[in-house]
Amino acid sequence: MTARHYRVAAIPGDGIGPEVVGAARAVVDAAGATFGFTIEWQELIVGGAAIDRYGRAIRDDDLAACRAADAVLLGAVGGPRWDDPGAAVRPEQALFAMRGGLGLYANLRPVTVDAPLVDASPLRRERLDGVDLLILRELTGGLYFGKPSEERVTDGGREAIDTLVYTEGEIRRLVRLGFEMARGRRRHVTSVDKANVLATSRLWRKVVEETRVDFPDVTVDHRLVDAAAMLLIQRPADFDVIVTENLFGDILSDEASVLAGSLGMLPSASLGARMTAVGHFGLYEPIHGSAPDIAGQGKANPIGTIRSAAMLLRWSLGEREAADAVERAVSGALADGHGTVDLGRGDDTGAMTTAIIGRLPGQVVVVGQAARAGR
Ligand code: IPM
Ligand code: MG
Repeated sequence: MTARHYRVAAIPGDGIGPEVVGAARAVVDAAGATFGFTIEWQELIVGGAAIDRYGRAIRDDDLAACRAADAVLLGAVGGPRWDDPGAAVRPEQALFAMRGGLGLYANLRPVTVDAPLVDASPLRRERLDGVDLLILRELTGGLYFGKPSEERVTDGGREAIDTLVYTEGEIRRLVRLGFEMARGRRRHVTSVDKANVLATSRLWRKVVEETRVDFPDVTVDHRLVDAAAMLLIQRPADFDVIVTENLFGDILSDEASVLAGSLGMLPSASLGARMTAVGHFGLYEPIHGSAPDIAGQGKANPIGTIRSAAMLLRWSLGEREAADAVERAVSGALADGHGTVDLGRGDDTGAMTTAIIGRLPGQVVVVGQAARAGR
């Protein structure tokens, strides 16, 4: 059997980014050894680290390197050093350059609750039963990219403007993907908007109604975003696939992450139209940020990034068996009592990672080693 070979751009970024990306790379390499593929990692300096070194958050060469790869694995960017929102150069600019420049219009944020961690969530156990939802957030339109977006001086004093604009094409491609993904799940789409106020939301609703005709096997609800925010806490298990615009998706995905007990658990994938030889080109990152307060201390939970890497294996590289094995190894390690401090458990980042690698098929489990290293 000839080994399959892939190119992945790795962006450690800032704060805990390098620790969690290092962990995920180790897991992917170990999975590759078992399942017969190798990864050529190309490490790129992007975010605050790039501002320090090059004076800008991302360079054109780095964007080109991402474009030339099969996928991108990102840790996190940003931190207090670069936090001045008035500064001309900010780490977040790298995120928008990648999302826009690489055409990554669909952001997938799956939320599940691991049974051993139910008590880490502030919600009552019975509300968490059966929670398995996917937020599909539009990522390259809406208020994040609309122009004008500026502060200006008028006769009446300062004013500021942001522009909320969506074309029907931008809405349709995201909504269609939501319906397609629902077909592989519980066949239920909830479209979230603010159609009682916003023209963009009324267009969104029309496009959902037009699209559903092609998916008669999928049920559809429309929810106003304020009501959806409430239902996510009251009856989270009722949701399957949520399709929504950029800012609503940003807010609802942080809210939904609380269900899982820790922000550190959750992965994300940002997919575009471009296909690789075996799947979608995409960028994969945990939904937590750079957590500068715990950076460099071995306290970071690597699971969000490791699960993001599993999505990378599945969606961009077509390595489904390896993806499943990584996800099972994470669940197995949690079930055996492993976990980082954010979960109220004792492993450091390295011990958690070792525990996961040890549970991949073909790897030797050294019982007790991970737990000891965490003390
Ligand atoms: C996210 C983040 C970003 C966003 C920030 C860092 C600009 O909150 O990925 O959800 O708002 O998109
Ligand atoms: Mg956010």
